[in-house]
Amino acid sequence: MFGNLKPQPADRILQLMGQFKADPRDGKIDLGVGVYKDATGLTPVMRAVRAAEKQLWDSETTKTYTGLAGDPEFNAALAALVLGDSLATDRLASVATPGGTGAVRQGFELIRMASPEARIWVSDPTWPNHLSILKYLGVPMEPYRYFDGDTRSVAFDAMMTGLTAAKPGDVVLLHGCCHNPTGANLTLPEWAEVADLLEKTGAVPMVDIAYQGFGDGLDADAAGVRLIASRLPEVLIAASCSKNFGIYRERTGALMALSDPAKREVTQGTLAFLNRQNYSFPPDHGARLVTMILNDPTLRADWQAELEEVRLGMLALREMLARELRTLSGSDRFGFLAQHRGMFSRLGASPDQVERLKTEHGIYMVGDSRLNIAGLNATTVPVLARAILAVGI
Ligand code: LMR
Repeated sequence: MFGNLKPQPADRILQLMGQFKADPRDGKIDLGVGVYKDATGLTPVMRAVRAAEKQLWDSETTKTYTGLAGDPEFNAALAALVLGDSLATDRLASVATPGGTGAVRQGFELIRMASPEARIWVSDPTWPNHLSILKYLGVPMEPYRYFDGDTRSVAFDAMMTGLTAAKPGDVVLLHGCCHNPTGANLTLPEWAEVADLLEKTGAVPMVDIAYQGFGDGLDADAAGVRLIASRLPEVLIAASCSKNFGIYRERTGALMALSDPAKREVTQGTLAFLNRQNYSFPPDHGARLVTMILNDPTLRADWQAELEEVRLGMLALREMLARELRTLSGSDRFGFLAQHRGMFSRLGASPDQVERLKTEHGIYMVGDSRLNIAGLNATTVPVLARAILAVGI
């Protein structure tokens, strides 16, 4: 039987992680996988997470199953974080999932059940795993243009033109903030125009929000998804806690589905059914930590303060890199680095230039020239800036 298996394409991002590890050079720089790192290169356990874990150690009396949808308190707390307090909870169905990827996968499966003909419109470019999961599930997809390679900003007019072809029942996948891989994001007025267009076409939005708090702040980063949620009758949201709580390996996220209140129960039941089919009960440890942090004012304040330090640190690195490149190149052509938000920026380098950065300079970024800003520090910024110019970007 196993003789029939064919090698699967390696995930570009995870493959790069392996190559970096195997590189024996001192001074190599990892700007690949989307993991936050502090100035020493460490991905720290956040203070509030550590404190919540201590409390949990003392207070947890059982590890028996939670519900199929996960702990209701977690679902409520995360929905409030993403959608704000004004959310009409009678529209909300929600399940805990293994990370944001689990939420994305369950969302696509829900779409396939609800609307087998649906096409999913994906930004070009998007996170490669969106495409890979859709392909694996056999869900038809359509790209919509998103990024202007010259200005390195959102190609908004082209995006809107592309999305006018979406049909009722199609799904438009949007990045809630900190677009992966480009770092270029919609403004709030642009989100409103997208909402107008979705109303007109009857397409259903699905918002993947994996970096809330990494861009302009917790509320600002959720403003787009909140606007969409307030305007459209049906919305899917895949939320991740991996990055903003730094609990990557705990696999913590949620899939939320907003619908007419009359449809809430059947939607909730279908989400729970999907959890049962795929893995039964979602992981609880990370979800419990998130709930404790969000519901305890002291832990929450400390978490928000640390998240803000992380965000401002990345912003400072962006500005430092843009400044360094301006000084060295004598031009403003890298100004977009300071305009982008979140962990990533697409540099706009050719595959050959990305390869040279790796082989000649030990600098690793994804082949489409996505760099993880959080992989830098004050020492490596000038090294990267010189290398960027040396390979002719
Ligand atoms: C990334 O894009 O690097 C992250 O979302 C990690 C991953 O799973 O790909």
